[in-house]
Amino acid sequence: MERLDKLIASRGTLSRKDAQKQIRSGAVTVNGAVCRQIDCKVDPDTDEITVAGQAVCTDRHLYIMLNKPAGVVSATEDRREKTVLDILPEELKRPGLFPAGRLDKDTEGLLIITDDGDFAHRMLSPKKHVDKRYIAKLDGEITPEMITAFENGIIFRDGTRCLPAKLEILPETDGLSGIVTICEGKFHQVKKMFSAVGRKVVHLQRISIGNLYLDSKLPIGKAKKMTKLDIDAIFLGNLH
Ligand code: URA
Repeated sequence: MERLDKLIASRGTLSRKDAQKQIRSGAVTVNGAVCRQIDCKVDPDTDEITVAGQAVCTDRHLYIMLNKPAGVVSATEDRREKTVLDILPEELKRPGLFPAGRLDKDTEGLLIITDDGDFAHRMLSPKKHVDKRYIAKLDGEITPEMITAFENGIIFRDGTRCLPAKLEILPETDGLSGIVTICEGKFHQVKKMFSAVGRKVVHLQRISIGNLYLDSKLPIGKAKKMTKLDIDAIFLGNLH
Protein backbone atom coordinates (compact mmCIF):
# COMPACT_ATOMS: atom_id res chain seq x y z
CA MET A 1 0.00 0.00 0.00
CA GLU A 2 1.18 3.54 -0.73
CA ARG A 3 0.17 7.00 0.48
CA LEU A 4 -2.18 8.70 -1.98
CA ASP A 5 -0.18 11.94 -2.28
CA LYS A 6 3.08 10.06 -2.75
CA LEU A 7 1.64 7.78 -5.39
CA ILE A 8 0.17 10.65 -7.42
CA ALA A 9 3.47 12.57 -7.27
CA SER A 10 5.56 9.53 -8.23
CA ARG A 11 3.41 8.52 -11.19
CA GLY A 12 2.77 11.88 -12.79
CA THR A 13 4.06 15.37 -13.28
CA LEU A 14 2.66 16.87 -10.05
CA SER A 15 4.95 17.65 -7.12
CA ARG A 16 4.05 16.16 -3.74
CA LYS A 17 2.79 19.59 -2.62
CA ASP A 18 0.59 20.01 -5.70
CA ALA A 19 -0.72 16.47 -5.31
CA GLN A 20 -1.72 17.32 -1.72
CA LYS A 21 -3.43 20.52 -2.92
CA GLN A 22 -5.42 18.57 -5.51
CA ILE A 23 -6.46 15.98 -2.92
CA ARG A 24 -7.58 18.61 -0.39
CA SER A 25 -9.53 20.49 -3.08
CA GLY A 26 -11.61 17.39 -3.85
CA ALA A 27 -10.17 16.86 -7.35
CA VAL A 28 -8.98 13.32 -6.58
CA THR A 29 -11.10 10.17 -6.62
CA VAL A 30 -10.22 6.68 -5.42
CA ASN A 31 -12.41 3.97 -6.97
CA GLY A 32 -14.97 6.58 -7.99
CA ALA A 33 -15.32 8.37 -4.62
CA VAL A 34 -13.74 11.74 -3.82
CA CYS A 35 -10.92 11.35 -1.29
CA ARG A 36 -9.62 14.43 0.60
CA GLN A 37 -7.23 12.57 2.88
CA ILE A 38 -3.64 13.07 1.70
CA ASP A 39 -2.26 10.08 3.61
CA CYS A 40 -5.02 7.67 2.58
CA LYS A 41 -3.43 4.26 1.86
CA VAL A 42 -4.08 2.97 -1.65
CA ASP A 43 -3.13 -0.18 -3.51
CA PRO A 44 -1.47 0.72 -6.85
CA ASP A 45 -2.28 -2.74 -8.22
CA THR A 46 -6.04 -2.55 -7.72
CA ASP A 47 -7.23 0.97 -6.86
CA GLU A 48 -8.33 3.33 -9.62
CA ILE A 49 -7.26 6.91 -9.04
CA THR A 50 -8.16 10.04 -10.97
CA VAL A 51 -6.95 13.63 -10.70
CA ALA A 52 -9.26 16.25 -12.22
CA GLY A 53 -11.02 13.51 -14.13
CA GLN A 54 -7.80 12.06 -15.62
CA ALA A 55 -6.85 8.47 -14.71
CA VAL A 56 -3.48 8.13 -12.99
CA CYS A 57 -1.38 5.30 -14.36
CA THR A 58 -0.57 3.41 -11.16
CA ASP A 59 1.75 0.79 -12.71
CA ARG A 60 4.98 0.52 -10.75
CA HIS A 61 7.00 0.89 -13.92
CA LEU A 62 6.25 2.39 -17.28
CA TYR A 63 7.57 1.13 -20.62
CA ILE A 64 7.09 3.42 -23.60
CA MET A 65 7.67 2.76 -27.29
CA LEU A 66 8.75 5.94 -29.07
CA ASN A 67 9.07 6.28 -32.82
CA LYS A 68 11.99 8.65 -32.46
CA PRO A 69 12.19 11.44 -35.00
CA ALA A 70 15.48 12.88 -36.25
CA GLY A 71 16.55 16.05 -34.44
CA VAL A 72 16.04 14.98 -30.81
CA VAL A 73 18.72 13.57 -28.53
CA SER A 74 18.51 10.32 -26.53
CA ALA A 75 19.08 11.93 -23.14
CA THR A 76 17.04 12.84 -20.08
CA GLU A 77 18.04 16.50 -20.29
CA ASP A 78 20.09 18.75 -22.48
CA ARG A 79 20.79 22.47 -22.26
CA ARG A 80 20.54 23.13 -25.97
CA GLU A 81 18.79 20.24 -27.67
CA LYS A 82 15.28 18.84 -27.44
CA THR A 83 15.34 15.41 -25.77
CA VAL A 84 13.25 12.29 -26.30
CA LEU A 85 11.59 12.98 -22.92
CA ASP A 86 10.57 16.51 -24.01
CA ILE A 87 8.46 15.11 -26.85
CA LEU A 88 6.46 12.60 -24.75
CA PRO A 89 2.78 13.42 -24.28
CA GLU A 90 1.89 14.72 -20.79
CA GLU A 91 -0.06 11.57 -19.86
CA LEU A 92 3.07 9.44 -20.32
CA LYS A 93 5.43 11.68 -18.39
CA ARG A 94 6.49 10.68 -14.90
CA PRO A 95 9.59 11.13 -12.74
CA GLY A 96 12.51 8.78 -13.32
CA LEU A 97 12.01 8.08 -17.04
CA PHE A 98 15.10 7.62 -19.21
CA PRO A 99 15.84 6.23 -22.67
CA ALA A 100 16.95 2.59 -22.49
CA GLY A 101 19.85 2.89 -24.91
CA ARG A 102 20.71 5.57 -27.39
CA LEU A 103 19.98 6.45 -30.97
CA ASP A 104 22.02 9.18 -32.65
CA LYS A 105 20.35 12.57 -33.06
CA ASP A 106 19.76 11.90 -36.75
CA THR A 107 18.59 8.28 -36.30
CA GLU A 108 14.87 7.50 -36.31
CA GLY A 109 12.77 4.61 -35.10
CA LEU A 110 12.27 2.33 -32.13
CA LEU A 111 13.41 3.70 -28.79
CA ILE A 112 12.22 2.41 -25.44
CA ILE A 113 11.77 4.83 -22.57
CA THR A 114 11.25 3.47 -19.09
CA ASP A 115 11.75 4.08 -15.37
CA ASP A 116 12.79 0.46 -14.76
CA GLY A 117 16.57 0.32 -14.36
CA ASP A 118 16.74 -3.47 -13.98
CA PHE A 119 14.85 -3.96 -17.23
CA ALA A 120 17.11 -1.51 -19.08
CA HIS A 121 20.19 -3.25 -17.74
CA ARG A 122 18.86 -6.63 -18.90
CA MET A 123 18.07 -5.29 -22.36
CA LEU A 124 21.35 -3.43 -22.83
CA SER A 125 23.75 -5.88 -21.22
CA PRO A 126 26.20 -7.10 -23.90
CA LYS A 127 25.97 -10.55 -22.29
CA LYS A 128 22.27 -10.82 -23.15
CA HIS A 129 22.95 -10.37 -26.88
CA VAL A 130 19.59 -8.75 -27.64
CA ASP A 131 19.41 -8.20 -31.40
CA LYS A 132 18.80 -4.73 -32.77
CA ARG A 133 17.67 -4.38 -36.36
CA TYR A 134 18.13 -1.29 -38.49
CA ILE A 135 17.25 -0.17 -41.99
CA ALA A 136 20.24 1.70 -43.39
CA LYS A 137 20.07 3.74 -46.58
CA LEU A 138 23.53 4.09 -48.14
CA ASP A 139 25.43 6.23 -50.61
CA GLY A 140 26.30 3.18 -52.73
CA GLU A 141 25.40 -0.43 -53.36
CA ILE A 142 25.79 -3.29 -50.92
CA THR A 143 28.13 -5.95 -52.36
CA PRO A 144 28.37 -9.67 -51.49
CA GLU A 145 31.83 -8.93 -50.00
CA MET A 146 30.24 -6.50 -47.56
CA ILE A 147 27.72 -9.12 -46.45
CA THR A 148 30.61 -11.54 -45.79
CA ALA A 149 32.61 -8.87 -43.96
CA PHE A 150 29.62 -8.22 -41.66
CA GLU A 151 29.27 -11.99 -41.08
CA ASN A 152 32.94 -12.28 -40.14
CA GLY A 153 32.83 -9.33 -37.73
CA ILE A 154 33.77 -5.85 -38.86
CA ILE A 155 36.96 -4.32 -37.51
CA PHE A 156 36.82 -0.53 -37.03
CA ARG A 157 39.67 1.72 -38.11
CA ASP A 158 40.82 1.93 -34.45
CA GLY A 159 41.08 -1.87 -34.27
CA THR A 160 37.83 -2.49 -32.34
CA ARG A 161 36.34 -5.80 -33.43
CA CYS A 162 32.55 -6.19 -33.74
CA LEU A 163 30.65 -9.41 -33.18
CA PRO A 164 29.31 -11.13 -36.33
CA ALA A 165 26.35 -9.25 -37.78
CA LYS A 166 23.80 -9.94 -40.47
CA LEU A 167 23.45 -7.71 -43.52
CA GLU A 168 20.61 -8.26 -45.98
CA ILE A 169 19.76 -6.20 -49.04
CA LEU A 170 16.33 -4.60 -48.74
CA PRO A 171 14.38 -5.67 -51.85
CA GLU A 172 13.47 -3.07 -54.47
CA THR A 173 16.09 -0.56 -53.36
CA ASP A 174 18.68 -1.35 -56.08
CA GLY A 175 21.00 -2.56 -53.31
CA LEU A 176 21.14 0.92 -51.78
CA SER A 177 19.38 -0.04 -48.53
CA GLY A 178 20.06 -2.89 -46.17
CA ILE A 179 18.72 -4.47 -43.02
CA VAL A 180 21.47 -4.82 -40.42
CA THR A 181 21.14 -7.01 -37.34
CA ILE A 182 23.61 -6.42 -34.53
CA CYS A 183 23.60 -7.73 -30.98
CA GLU A 184 25.77 -5.10 -29.31
CA GLY A 185 25.55 -1.34 -28.96
CA LYS A 186 28.86 0.32 -29.67
CA PHE A 187 28.84 4.09 -30.19
CA HIS A 188 27.74 4.90 -33.79
CA GLN A 189 28.07 1.19 -34.47
CA VAL A 190 26.10 0.80 -37.70
CA LYS A 191 27.58 3.96 -39.27
CA LYS A 192 31.10 2.85 -38.36
CA MET A 193 30.51 -0.67 -39.69
CA PHE A 194 29.48 0.70 -43.06
CA SER A 195 32.31 3.20 -43.00
CA ALA A 196 34.73 0.29 -42.55
CA VAL A 197 33.49 -1.18 -45.87
CA GLY A 198 33.51 2.18 -47.68
CA ARG A 199 29.86 3.22 -47.41
CA LYS A 200 28.22 6.22 -45.78
CA VAL A 201 24.87 5.82 -44.04
CA VAL A 202 22.55 8.55 -45.32
CA HIS A 203 19.51 7.49 -43.28
CA LEU A 204 19.19 5.13 -40.33
CA GLN A 205 16.05 3.76 -38.70
CA ARG A 206 15.84 1.14 -35.92
CA ILE A 207 13.00 -1.27 -36.62
CA SER A 208 13.28 -3.85 -33.85
CA ILE A 209 14.84 -4.83 -30.54
CA GLY A 210 14.75 -8.58 -29.92
CA ASN A 211 11.40 -9.66 -31.29
CA LEU A 212 9.73 -6.33 -30.58
CA TYR A 213 9.05 -4.44 -33.80
CA LEU A 214 8.35 -0.75 -34.18
CA ASP A 215 4.56 -0.44 -34.52
CA SER A 216 4.04 0.48 -38.17
CA LYS A 217 0.92 2.46 -37.16
CA LEU A 218 2.89 4.66 -34.73
CA PRO A 219 3.71 7.90 -36.57
CA ILE A 220 7.21 9.39 -36.31
CA GLY A 221 7.46 11.44 -33.12
CA LYS A 222 4.62 9.58 -31.38
CA ALA A 223 4.80 7.34 -28.32
CA LYS A 224 2.64 4.65 -26.75
CA LYS A 225 2.60 2.61 -23.58
CA MET A 226 3.96 -0.90 -24.12
CA THR A 227 2.11 -4.04 -23.06
CA LYS A 228 3.51 -7.01 -21.11
CA LEU A 229 3.62 -8.93 -24.42
CA ASP A 230 5.72 -6.16 -26.00
CA ILE A 231 8.18 -6.30 -23.10
CA ASP A 232 8.47 -10.09 -23.23
CA ALA A 233 9.04 -9.98 -27.02
CA ILE A 234 12.31 -8.11 -26.48
CA PHE A 235 13.94 -11.15 -24.95
CA LEU A 236 12.67 -13.72 -27.49
CA GLY A 237 14.41 -15.05 -30.60
CA ASN A 238 17.92 -13.66 -30.72
CA LEU A 239 20.55 -14.17 -33.40
CA HIS A 240 23.18 -15.48 -30.94
N1 URA B 1 24.29 2.75 -34.93
C1 URA B 1 24.53 4.02 -35.30
O1 URA B 1 25.51 4.30 -35.99
N2 URA B 1 23.69 4.98 -34.89
C2 URA B 1 22.59 4.73 -34.14
O2 URA B 1 21.86 5.65 -33.82
C3 URA B 1 22.35 3.40 -33.77
C4 URA B 1 23.21 2.42 -34.18
